[in-house]
Amino acid sequence: MNVRMMNRRKFIKAAIGSGFLLASGNIFSGCGEVLDGDGTTGKSDKIADLEVNHLRQIITSNANETRCIMWQSNDILMNPAVEVKANDLDNTYTFAALDCSFTDDDHINNQYSARVEGLNVGTSYQYRIVDGDHCSAWHNLKTTEGKSFKALIFPDSQCADYSVWSKVAKSAYSRNEDAAFFVNVGDIVDNGEDWTQWKAWFEGASTFLDKIPFVPIMGNHECYNRQWQTRLPEAYLKYFEVPSNGNEKFERRYYSFDYGDVHFAILDSQWDELNTINSGAGDELIRAQQEWLRRDMSNTSKKWKIVFIHKDVLQYRIKGRPERLEGFSDIGTLLMPLFDELKIDIVFTAHLHTYRDRGHIYNFEHNPNGSLYILTGLAGDVRYPGLWIDHALDVAKAPQPETDNYLTLEAAEDKIEVKCFLPDGTEIDRAVVKQGEK
Ligand SMILES: [Fe+2]
Repeated sequence: MNVRMMNRRKFIKAAIGSGFLLASGNIFSGCGEVLDGDGTTGKSDKIADLEVNHLRQIITSNANETRCIMWQSNDILMNPAVEVKANDLDNTYTFAALDCSFTDDDHINNQYSARVEGLNVGTSYQYRIVDGDHCSAWHNLKTTEGKSFKALIFPDSQCADYSVWSKVAKSAYSRNEDAAFFVNVGDIVDNGEDWTQWKAWFEGASTFLDKIPFVPIMGNHECYNRQWQTRLPEAYLKYFEVPSNGNEKFERRYYSFDYGDVHFAILDSQWDELNTINSGAGDELIRAQQEWLRRDMSNTSKKWKIVFIHKDVLQYRIKGRPERLEGFSDIGTLLMPLFDELKIDIVFTAHLHTYRDRGHIYNFEHNPNGSLYILTGLAGDVRYPGLWIDHALDVAKAPQPETDNYLTLEAAEDKIEVKCFLPDGTEIDRAVVKQGEK
């Protein structure tokens, strides 16, 4: 028996005795392992001088029981781990971290990830990073109770000046400190290879990045190199150890997770980009993802089903380009029938940098039995003022010309409410999906 196996057993025994229940059936992708749980570590004998950067919680397949903790470090850590304690318990449990350092854009990222297991619902925890005798400050981690929760949703945050993203992010969180997690619907950064942009994005979200799980979605800008040619989303996949419950070949490009009574599927719309790199691979991605989504949504027993995908489902006319007709994008033509079939409650998209509420659509027409379609808008400084000509399916839109916006999703027992706000907290739209309406 190796030492780690022995420690894992020890943890299970200690965990059960102290109210920590080990989760089962959750899927992680190389995100550390339980190291020790004897309650003897984490005391005040460590020196609190460990500096960690971009400390973040990443969504797991069941975030009420598990978390993935990731961070960067200026130094190479020899024994990186995460210590967790419930606020009302003295015992501290240690979860070993894996070294997942990488070099991209000629920049070395000393990076670590650990999975935290056995969390209880409706509980407040504290966690810190440890390395031998050194530790970071404590940070908060909370799980929710019951089926009601709120999430923050940010549209494209790509920027030339990331102080714009920072302002939107901070404003949104200051008004929604009860959010259970936050989402970015893709084009997180303008250039997926530029490490300075990732740094600026992380710093913009720093007031809540360590406190609530992040749900990342890949956009086409995550697939550009410094020469603005298409590349694989290498940095995106390294920075975010999302659940690997999608497809082995296209690992972590799409995934799903549960929160409360909602099943979320995060899709990958970058099959054209993938075909550019490897002819035919994008077509394979489409087929694999369609099959997976059908299987994934059929297997869930959750009441609500929500899909996020970066590129939008509609095609807009554009001023100055009369040849471009109103209709549906390739994404919409391909996937909207599947969303109909699977009775998806809400579909969130992005990419066009404008907020539009399309109401419920079924079989390409407004129909109360269809999915609610929300084009989420803009949370950065790349604006296309006056570009899009309104689509017949648009029900509501942001004031023109667009400024930034953010959204909240509030799930309750009998309804899900989506609200859109300007950065100053002014509500500009709301849409509701109620049980039994579909
Ligand atoms: Fe995009």
